[in-house]
Amino acid sequence: MSDVLPIAEAVARRAGAIVMEGFGRVHRVRQKGAIDFVTEFDHRSEEVIVSALQKEFPDHAILAEETGLHPRTGEYQWVVDPIDGTTNFAHGLPLFAICLGLLRGNVPVAGVIYDPLHEEMYCAALGRGATLNGRPIRVSSQADLGQAFLATGFAYDIRTNPRNNLAQFAQFQLRTQGVRRLGSAAIDCAWTALGRLDGYWEFGIEPWDVAAGGLLVREAGGRATSTDGDEDFLPTGTIVVSNGLLHEQILRVLREGDTAPLPEQ
Ligand code: IPD
Ligand code: CA
Repeated sequence: MSDVLPIAEAVARRAGAIVMEGFGRVHRVRQKGAIDFVTEFDHRSEEVIVSALQKEFPDHAILAEETGLHPRTGEYQWVVDPIDGTTNFAHGLPLFAICLGLLRGNVPVAGVIYDPLHEEMYCAALGRGATLNGRPIRVSSQADLGQAFLATGFAYDIRTNPRNNLAQFAQFQLRTQGVRRLGSAAIDCAWTALGRLDGYWEFGIEPWDVAAGGLLVREAGGRATSTDGDEDFLPTGTIVVSNGLLHEQILRVLREGDTAPLPEQ
């Protein structure tokens, strides 16, 4: 599946150019929920991506964040986030990405994550490794959770869903070097693949947020599972990615909560 990457990369770059036109400007937004909204640039980016993918891969289905499912009969499906980190983008906060993942069934087989502001293009294909701007990347070697640098995120139903990750956030904050909330799941995964972060977890996540990122981490030598440790993470709507060395320790905190061991002082 590495043959699809140059095309996916070119499509992400075209979408990135559109998104960059809007960065730092005031946006027309539509509320999707209490704290969930969309800008005109999410729509414009998605339009370019969907029409380019349909032209290049007429047999492939597409599931895109803003326009939903564009069905086809073939076995491959693209999952598309035209801007991952919309809240950051709309506030002029410089951290967001364009994210394209290719699935065969539920299994991510190719993916690109493009951070247009920093000109960072992350690519991965199943069994072919992960790269940043064409150079191979690798996860960190941190094995001690007490020294680990993690990221997490919170779903848009945080105000109403009792499983809103706030308890887990506190538990990890006490058991690691620190936890960041960056606001882009794709960047959380990409930075784990690159070793800037040692791991990332989230509940209530969508396939377009993490399909490419989960593959990227795996291909960079790490692990991607659900928060229960299931390798088939996409249907669960949850994710844990890590450098692999920390994976069981992260799953343990998620399982045991406040009773999980604290680091020595
Ligand atoms: C969101 C971001 C955020 C995560 C949310 C996602 P969006 O995606 O990835 O970091 O915590 O769960 O929905 O809305 O910016 O595409
Ligand atoms: Ca989005």
